[in-house]
Amino acid sequence: MCGIIGFTGCGRAKDVLLSGLSALEYRGYDSAGISCFTGDGKITTIKSVGKVSKLKTQVPEEFSSTCGIGHTRWATHGGVSQANAHPHSCGRVTLIHNGIIENYLCLRDELSATGRTPVSGTDSEIAAMLIDSLYTGDARAAIAAAAARLEGAYAFCILFSDQPEKIYCIRKGSPLVACQTKMGSIIASDMVALLRYSKDYFVLEEDLIACLTHDEITVTTLDGRTVAPDYLTVTWDVSSAQKNGFNHYMEKEIHEQPDALLRTITPRLVKYVENGESYMLPDFTADGIPDSLFLGLSRIVITACGTAMHAGMMGKILFEELLHIPVTVDIASEFRYQNPILSEDTLVITVSQSGETADTLAALRLATESGARTLSIVNVKGSSIARESAHVFYTHAGPEIAVASTKAYTAQLAAFYMIAFRAAFAARRLSIGECAEYTKGLSLMIPALTKVLERGEEFAAISRHLIKATDLFFIGRGMDYALSCEGSIKLKEITYIHSEAYAAGELKHGTLSLIAPDVPVIALATQHNVLAKMVSNIKEVRARGAFVILVAAKDAGIEPELYDFCIELPETSDRFAPFTAAAVLQLIAYHTSFLRGLDVDQPRHLAKSVTVE
Ligand code: G6P
Repeated sequence: MCGIIGFTGCGRAKDVLLSGLSALEYRGYDSAGISCFTGDGKITTIKSVGKVSKLKTQVPEEFSSTCGIGHTRWATHGGVSQANAHPHSCGRVTLIHNGIIENYLCLRDELSATGRTPVSGTDSEIAAMLIDSLYTGDARAAIAAAAARLEGAYAFCILFSDQPEKIYCIRKGSPLVACQTKMGSIIASDMVALLRYSKDYFVLEEDLIACLTHDEITVTTLDGRTVAPDYLTVTWDVSSAQKNGFNHYMEKEIHEQPDALLRTITPRLVKYVENGESYMLPDFTADGIPDSLFLGLSRIVITACGTAMHAGMMGKILFEELLHIPVTVDIASEFRYQNPILSEDTLVITVSQSGETADTLAALRLATESGARTLSIVNVKGSSIARESAHVFYTHAGPEIAVASTKAYTAQLAAFYMIAFRAAFAARRLSIGECAEYTKGLSLMIPALTKVLERGEEFAAISRHLIKATDLFFIGRGMDYALSCEGSIKLKEITYIHSEAYAAGELKHGTLSLIAPDVPVIALATQHNVLAKMVSNIKEVRARGAFVILVAAKDAGIEPELYDFCIELPETSDRFAPFTAAAVLQLIAYHTSFLRGLDVDQPRHLAKSVTVE
């Protein structure tokens, strides 16, 4: 949802801004632009519709500046156009914005009456007009006064033409992280843009103003008191955010899953001894998550968006089976508007790779206000959801750059498995031996997943049969249905093939009418308890001529006449099949997108981090 970066220091601003924008491009790629001080208080702006690579061709090699701001846009207010590209200027103010200003219409009318006329259709330009109207030489005072008027979400980096080499920043809702290096001061939407310069950074807290100069970053409250920021350190290095020889980030991230899962699972395995026997159990003492969080619960509510919500669907199945507590899974954007029943014996689990998704954050805030217990499963350290949640389970998947989520999803699944096992042990629904046995199964799933990743060519060959498809269906039951939802979103977001996930038993209540000869159906049959029923459902689509790709447990024994291709999964217990099957579906989506000649990592109209509601 727009990536923003600011740099002031002794290096070449152009280089820092453009390489930072490339790293942030996963947040939006409709247009890009930079504004830099280029001498005598002059601010030069270069912007264009299209990706950062196009902007790079428009910035002259000799472009000389040591202070500037840069933006890569995901259009919200106003279409994709040169005029709507950031930065925006008004009077002495030039700014970049990530977020949405909700009261921009009334502000626009008010400011137009003062003779300021917007040239774009954006809410961001209205913010520039507002700050300019309030600026009398004291930047902090103008920004604080503007913050009091602005409704919605924002992260701003602001240049004032009479304050060369300085960048002012403020945020509400949308993220900003900053670091101080020998070369200068840098601020950006995400740590990936800072990583090549520093591993130490701080999150700019809401309602604080940062002022970046060459040598320091000063953070103050809105009324001018200086605040010392809390520095964090990232544990991954710059190569984690590069392609490392893979064609695309998505392909690389799919292959990183075994390592990501090891990082999520292994540090949380702790040896327990009972009656002279040793057991390895999930233990969240180091995460500060007490067993009491899972005791005395009347219900669990899982809320998230997109892929994270699909991980939550798997969490529901696990919790209901192992804890015997009712669980609901809610789309975060719907959650607040359906009068959720929340009390202190409700555990609300929010799931988010970025930790910044606006709807998920809003759901968490509502849960907190309602007095419910809160736990978040988050990948990005120090993100808003992590900081506002009473308890956090970090997934440690490492930076995920491709818009289509892969390793973050399987790491979220692993988090749900571990939490369900631990909670069931704490609630005495699993004995120590059972909990250790289940946990061992989770660890053994990792080598099975590795085996699937070695079979990329097999999936690429199957994908060749999908490239001409216009519609495609995923069917499954139980865990396979939850995974079908994820398989379907993965495929449609990067291949642009219309696809739907159906609970296999529900097909005959409507969707069967859409099954025609050669329509591809990806049927998941990994769960033995529903295998016979699943076979009947496959027969139903086969009888209508569907082109069936079967993803099945090794010993499923489904008759060959029922499918065109069968992908046999390595042996794991049914409970852990979603991991290996997820990798199959990810690779099919990846190869299909690649073979269709599409932009795998940056599919049209989408953005990775959705910080608007
Ligand atoms: C966007 C991304 C998805 C992601 C969803 C939720 O739609 O494209 O990949 O699943 O946001 O993001 P989160 O960061 O909250 O997991």
